[in-house]
Amino acid sequence: RGTQTISASGHLVIGGVDTVELAREYGTPLYVYDTALIKERINQYKEAFAAYNGMDWQVAYASKAFSTIAILQLVNEFGLSLDVVSGGELYTALKAGFPAGRIHFHGNNKSDDELILALDANIGNVIVDNFYELERLEDLCAAKGREMEILLRVTPGVEAHTHEFIMTGHDDTKFGFNLDNGMADQAVQLALKAPHLILKGIHCHIGSQIFETEGFVRAIRVIFSYAEKWKRSFDFSMQVLNVGGGFGIRYTEEDHPLPVKNYIDSIVAVVTEECKARALSVPAVWIEPGRSIVGESGTTLYTVGALKDIPGIRKYVSVDGGMADNIRPALYQAHYEALCASRANEPADQSVAIAGKCCENGDVLIKKANLPESCRAGDILAVLCTGAYGYSMASHYNRLPNPAVVFVENGESQLVVRRESYDDLIRMDQPLKMFSSHE
Ligand code: LLP
Repeated sequence: RGTQTISASGHLVIGGVDTVELAREYGTPLYVYDTALIKERINQYKEAFAAYNGMDWQVAYASKAFSTIAILQLVNEFGLSLDVVSGGELYTALKAGFPAGRIHFHGNNKSDDELILALDANIGNVIVDNFYELERLEDLCAAKGREMEILLRVTPGVEAHTHEFIMTGHDDTKFGFNLDNGMADQAVQLALKAPHLILKGIHCHIGSQIFETEGFVRAIRVIFSYAEKWKRSFDFSMQVLNVGGGFGIRYTEEDHPLPVKNYIDSIVAVVTEECKARALSVPAVWIEPGRSIVGESGTTLYTVGALKDIPGIRKYVSVDGGMADNIRPALYQAHYEALCASRANEPADQSVAIAGKCCENGDVLIKKANLPESCRAGDILAVLCTGAYGYSMASHYNRLPNPAVVFVENGESQLVVRRESYDDLIRMDQPLKMFSSHE
């Protein structure tokens, strides 16, 4: 994957850097990002859109997938916009020096404090999710005597279940204004009437880890049928259509994502076709990939510890991390591939389970991984494709400190998040004062 190779000594090399050396220098568990692969993916999106002359577009990186100062700076350098979903993600973006005008603020329950932070930073737009937010954002803008550009998040009734898409008559989701029951019509009217809100367009997000273009196409068609009605009834012109993220990646050989270009081509084609058929002007097309920007570029390095062989049943290989640094197997039954980074040239001829170190039976990162027979305590193990929703969903369960994060490229490595210490873990703790233990 990406720049991964195997050295003469049989070690996995990423970005020209020996992973066994990385483990030695920075410790394990360690998140390693192949930045060349991140840039390649960003460029694939940009080139796919750039092929359409005169088309207005934005690619916003969905920072929930992996948000740290360094990754946001990298993404900014490559000209992407940014999707944030909380005050914390927004704060990180601002601290990274991300241009506020290219930040989009999502979320189904933004607090007043978060909205005020967004207004004061003068971010590009807010994706308004519900009536309560619409009302409060108008009031907050009025109080500050300023305007804010918004998109309305709608629920088009198309839901992606990884591989197939279903149309649901009535959408049961906490997000957005439903189209099929008049909610979205009402939201458009209210937004147009709100003196301090500038309604630029519509947003939808149909799901994640999507391997086909069909769901996007269906959702866009549904939205345009309403856009035509809104144009006629309320003279609302949809200047922006944001179709969200969800573009699939290859975690294992079971996954067959499409090339980035295929998704973009299908989206642009259906937008153009719908506009022509309905005599509407072509809106700017925005997307919000998270996983597909950073997912495949990330590898987690662990040190192998205890081995347990249950004859005739299974062999467990335990590593020094687990569900605290990658909750996805336990939470979503997500599948990953691994290899023994310190014996990458040996045949992976034994099937084992890779277990985490958390006190939970379910903390198994991979149920069936193939590792060399000789893999044992002290070896370095690499779990591939952990760049999205790994670090960002990490916890302190069992009081495990969060791992460090390094970027690698061209034979160089840089620490971008330092490893937490035990002191970091107790930094917020306050000693007990309420009860005297001597009474
Ligand atoms: N835009 C919106 C409005 C979203 O809700 C999401 C993801 C994205 C963009 C980015 O989706 P992506 O391109 O990364 O698939 N924690 C889960 C994924 C949750 C995604 C939530 N929303 C996981 O680990 O698979």
